[in-house]
Amino acid sequence: MCMQSERQTTGMKFFVDTADTNEIRDLAETGLLDGVTTNPSLVAKTGRDFIDVLKEICAIVDGPVSAEVTATEAAAMIAEGNKLAAVAPNVTVKVPLTWDGLKACRALTQAGTPVNVTLCFSANQALLAAKAGATFISPFVGRLDDMGQDGMELIAEIKTIYDNYPAIETEILVASIRHPIHLKQAAMMGADVATLPPDVLRKLASHPLTDKGLAAFLADWQKTGQKIL
Ligand code: E4P
Repeated sequence: MCMQSERQTTGMKFFVDTADTNEIRDLAETGLLDGVTTNPSLVAKTGRDFIDVLKEICAIVDGPVSAEVTATEAAAMIAEGNKLAAVAPNVTVKVPLTWDGLKACRALTQAGTPVNVTLCFSANQALLAAKAGATFISPFVGRLDDMGQDGMELIAEIKTIYDNYPAIETEILVASIRHPIHLKQAAMMGADVATLPPDVLRKLASHPLTDKGLAAFLADWQKTGQKIL
């Protein structure tokens, strides 16, 4: 397993947003998966023990695996974060964007643990997360769309702000993605990472004209009676 800091990738990083180890294993086989994000709701859906699931995910994927704390006070968040970080070298501790979360982010980061600050819904929140040393900021685009705002506008704002300050190293991790258009827009804006539900990730490679074109090529090839191997 390579450490997350050593991992190389080309262009935008793709994470999968699930705690379902079968889905993760299947997608990891493509070799195109750069990491995983989980949250308490996704872990609850599995019906399994959190630490067991986390261990299993970290063994499948080389890249960062976000595991979220459930405490709400900084000291307890830090203690939970340390426990989660001890599970595997590729754990990224996820904390919510609250003042306590920011305090915990700063402490964990200073101790060398990567932190993903989650539940970000404004550019100012993203600026604070960067100041607290977050490795990733997770703006939730789908949940903003759901309430009649434009989630992608938030990504554009954060990108502009972060680009204004080259010393900021926090990566923009576009979260709460609902469809492939979100992903395309995030890539056009130059977001660093996108975390996608497994079904949306699978949709990225599909196009009806690809299927139709391939069927026609294979039908014509069969008529030749030839074989390549
Ligand atoms: C990100 O880390 C979150 O787990 C996720 O993207 C939330 O998505 P949702 O709004 O579809 O629940």
